[in-house]
Amino acid sequence: MSGRILVAYASRKGSTAGIAQAIGKELTSEGYAVDVNEMKSITSLAGFNAVVIGAPVYTGKVTGDVAAFVTANKDGLSRLPVAGFVTGIAPVYPKTGDVKGFTDQLITALAPIRPVAVTMFAGTLDAEKMNFVERSLTSLMKVPTSDFRDWDAIRAWARKLPGMMNL
Ligand SMILES: Cc1cc2nc3c(=O)[nH]c(=O)nc-3n(C[C@H](O)[C@H](O)[C@H](O)COP(=O)(O)O)c2cc1C
Repeated sequence: MSGRILVAYASRKGSTAGIAQAIGKELTSEGYAVDVNEMKSITSLAGFNAVVIGAPVYTGKVTGDVAAFVTANKDGLSRLPVAGFVTGIAPVYPKTGDVKGFTDQLITALAPIRPVAVTMFAGTLDAEKMNFVERSLTSLMKVPTSDFRDWDAIRAWARKLPGMMNL
């Protein structure tokens, strides 16, 4: 059991960053060397044996960072096992979208690279971190505000990755 894993994330308000860190911590405790970095800051995949990609959903769309990251790193990604997750409120509040629709968006953004696993985790909604428009939008939709991140589910998914990635 060895290998160097990159956890590449996008995050506007920090909750996906927290999930990426938790995945990194879990993989580190399993004996892997792990880098957890913002997608935007990554310039090369050299030296990595696998990549985990995570990004939040805003107003029905997985953030554009994923498409940009995939385009910029297509060659590197096509040679490595890739897994991905999206973060949003839909798993706990289905009015904000369809979980399968969001994981499918991630699959589409990654194509033609085929991820070994995709999932969606519940994120966080914090009224204090929203601007006026965001607050109006979410209160209009009566979206509950809380930290919905399920750390046990996140850690359990992380532990399954090395097996799925043949590491
Ligand atoms: C303005 C706004 C729009 C959002 N739209 C969606 C949505 O369409 N579907 C969804 O599941 N979650 C939606 N969310 C919830 C975010 O995905 C959630 O807050 C997530 O944890 C944000 O991740 P981040 O902290 O990494 O930026 C929205 C949140 C905000 C503030």
